[in-house]
Order: sequence, then C-alpha cells, then structure tokens
Amino acid sequence: MPLIHAVGVGPGDPELLTRKAEMVLRRADVILAPVSNPSEASVALATIREFIDEERQQVIVHQFPMTSDRARLVPAWNEAAELIAGHAEAGREVAFITIGDPLFYSTFIYLLRILREKWPHLPVGIVPGISSINAAAAQAALPLVEAEEKMAVVPATAGIEQIAAALANFETVVLLKVKPLYSDILQLLRRTGRGGSTVFVERVGSPRQKILTDFAEISAHSPDYLSLLIVKQPCSS
Ligand SMILES: C[S@@+](CC[C@H](N)C(=O)[O-])C[C@H]1O[C@@H](n2cnc3c(N)ncnc32)[C@H](O)[C@@H]1O
Repeated sequence: MPLIHAVGVGPGDPELLTRKAEMVLRRADVILAPVSNPSEASVALATIREFIDEERQQVIVHQFPMTSDRARLVPAWNEAAELIAGHAEAGREVAFITIGDPLFYSTFIYLLRILREKWPHLPVGIVPGISSINAAAAQAALPLVEAEEKMAVVPATAGIEQIAAALANFETVVLLKVKPLYSDILQLLRRTGRGGSTVFVERVGSPRQKILTDFAEISAHSPDYLSLLIVKQPCSS
C-alpha cells in the first residue's frame, strides 16, 4: 500500500468527497494542503476539516506562489516533494489534498513528476476527485456533451486566440481560470453570438456558489479565481 497519496477532494462541498478519499484522509498521519496566498484559507483543507483529527494528524499548509514564473515555482514544488518523501521514508502516511481532481490542472502533477524522478521507490496512490467542471454542470443541470459532440477544456490563460479556435471547433467549451481575461472573453462571446448559451459558475459546491445564465448578469459580475464558464453552441431551433 502506498504511503503517499494525492487526494482529490472535489470542488468544495464535503458531501462530494468520495468514500475512498474520506478513508485515506482519516487514516493519514500527515496532511499537506496547498495555498497560493498565505493570508487565504485553503479551500481543500476547509472541505475536509470534518474528516480529520487535528490532535492526531499533522496538518501542513504549504504555499505555492500563484505565478507562471518557474524560477519561483520550481523551488516550492521541490520543497513540497521533499517534505512528502521525508515523511513517507520515515514510515508516515501522507495525503496531499487538491481541489477537484489531482491529475486535472493540479499542482500535484508537478510534484508527481519530481517524486517519480527522485524517489522512484516510493509508490504514489491517486484518489480521483469530482472536478469543478462536473460539479458545475450538475449544479446548473447543463448537459456537457451528448452523442457525437466534442468538448474542449481551455485554461483562459492560453489566450484569446486559443479560446476562439476552441469555440469554432467544439460544441462545448469549458473555460477555466477566467478571471484575468474576463472582459476579453466576454467580448469574444458577444462577437461570436455565444452570450445566450454561456453559463458562469463560481465557487461551486461552497456556500458562496454563484450560477449565472443571463449574459447581462455575467457581464456585470466581477469573478474570483474559482470560477469557470461553460459555453455551448447556440440552439439552432
Ligand atoms: C488549477 S485549476 C484546478 C482544477 C481542479 N483540479 C479541478 O479538478 O476542478 C483552477 C481552476 O479550476 C476552476 N475551479 C476549481 N474549483 C472551482 C469551483 N469550486 N468553482 C468553480 N470553478 C472552479 C476555476 O476555473 C479555477 O480557476
């Protein structure tokens, strides 16, 4: 049995944790929670609080800077991987928690590469989680794709041209990390006639969840980091 686990905790609703995630988290000796801003609480940690015993289990909050600058990210990844490997080598079971799924746009992917390269003798178990996309579609009761339809997932940070290309080629486009490019994205949606077939979802699964379907309301809103857009082709009928 692996001593290192990546546990997907879902979008933020404790009821959307899998039974396997709960079992691993209750058993772990050490829980490592990522944060990007030290002054903000870890969403992943808030999601699992009711399942852990902070008297017995060691909870470590590790900061990963919110940047694309690898010179700042690589040391944070290495430090976290070393921390995880150190506990595992001492015989302690470690769970790295991540919002949504650990292999879907997650910091854990970088840690997994480092762990495999530097500590190949330490196996890593992955517990999948419900991704924000599935949770958002469920809350909006919006079918993502059916029959022969295709879906693209685009982190908006890829740029407006990539988003336009996805809109031209896929029946459904899910845009993640929309905050920095929000007004450019809205302009593109307006120009391509997608305003009426766009759903905005913020902080799905949390008490602060917001779902907007009216394009005027979507345009008036100022999104936070945990928000996404699901864009469908306009209905032809
Ligand atoms: C680094 S990705 C993490 C994705 C995550 N691993 C998953 O499986 O959903 C972060 C982006 O996912 C989306 N996201 C994550 N959690 C969300 C939530 N609770 N509500 C809405 N969007 C969310 C946002 O677009 C955010 O910018």
